[in-house]
Amino acid sequence: MAGSFTVTIADSGANFHCPEDERVLISMEKQGLRLIPIGCRGGGCGTCRVKVTEGSYRTRKMSRAHVSEADEQAGIVLACRLIPESDLVLGLAGEGNGVWNRAREQGGKGHGVNGSIACGIRPIPRA
Ligand code: FES
Repeated sequence: MAGSFTVTIADSGANFHCPEDERVLISMEKQGLRLIPIGCRGGGCGTCRVKVTEGSYRTRKMSRAHVSEADEQAGIVLACRLIPESDLVLGLAGEGNGVWNRAREQGGKGHGVNGSIACGIRPIPRA
């Protein structure tokens, strides 16, 4: 696809296209996908931390509260600030991603409709 790159999530192999000037998280969300946890969408929460393991990219300004210099040098970025310059392969790197992955394995949808599963909170059964 001209003017767009393929973004692949390493642990699942799932992928989607991202236009060359669009942020990865926003493009994913526009396609109705939930492959990376979605939070504030503006670099303020750290929910969407990913590690770029392959490909080239640029980022918009990222808060040091969520991505340290060492993180950044290791390829850890915020997907809501990440703009691809080639095809990318990403690993999930957010602190909550263990919970996210467990929720997905258990059939939950993570953020969104069933956020209670992603948070590990289950409804109290009625007596
Ligand atoms: S979604 Fe909050 S920092 Fe990316």
